[in-house]
Amino acid sequence: MGSYKPPQQVVVLDPTAELRSLMSIIRNKDTHRGDFIFYSDRVIRFLVEEALNHLPFVEKTIVTPTGAKYDGLAFKGQICGVSIMRAGEAMEQGLRDCCRSVRIGKILIQRDEETAMPKLYYAKLPQDIADRFCLLLDPMLATGGSANKAIEVLLSNGVKEENILFVNLICAPEGIEKVVGKYPKIKIVTAEIDDGLDSNKFIVPGLGDFGCRYFGTL
Ligand code: URA
Repeated sequence: MGSYKPPQQVVVLDPTAELRSLMSIIRNKDTHRGDFIFYSDRVIRFLVEEALNHLPFVEKTIVTPTGAKYDGLAFKGQICGVSIMRAGEAMEQGLRDCCRSVRIGKILIQRDEETAMPKLYYAKLPQDIADRFCLLLDPMLATGGSANKAIEVLLSNGVKEENILFVNLICAPEGIEKVVGKYPKIKIVTAEIDDGLDSNKFIVPGLGDFGCRYFGTL
């Protein structure tokens, strides 16, 4: 991560030996696709669990089969996922594994050839998305252009900025600064923060093209 100090909106997973070993597998250029999918899925599961931990809970007392009370918690509110196509779709199953029947919307953003700006091509979102906490899924936060466009789409559909959690595997500092600079109320949950971007806007050290490695289109 170098000397970059992320803003307080960024939650980075604990760099446990287990997480670092999983990241070493998916970052390795020699890892074949089956392992890339399997170990990416494991990291995604950690990320989703961590993101859920940043949503609001209320106190709830229940009665156990012994007749005793247990002062516990219950999740307050409803969530949905929104994946930024195509790579974000790889994170949908991890969310489904944690949240039964979760609603999942999709957004397709691509670079406009004429303006070089991110352009929205398709969005299909849950009808009641304005009332939900939204886990925005995209594995690589590079320049932040697509992320900001996707957040703009969520806000224009009524989602509250403070109800958006951007969940991703690897961030570049440039992407973090762009997203948090424009949308200071959102939270970013990530596994690791890298050094920066190369001349092709790939994250370095990074892991290459996540979507191509996950979906087998290299
Ligand atoms: N998207 C990727 O898949 N990899 C990068 O390094 C940057 C964006």
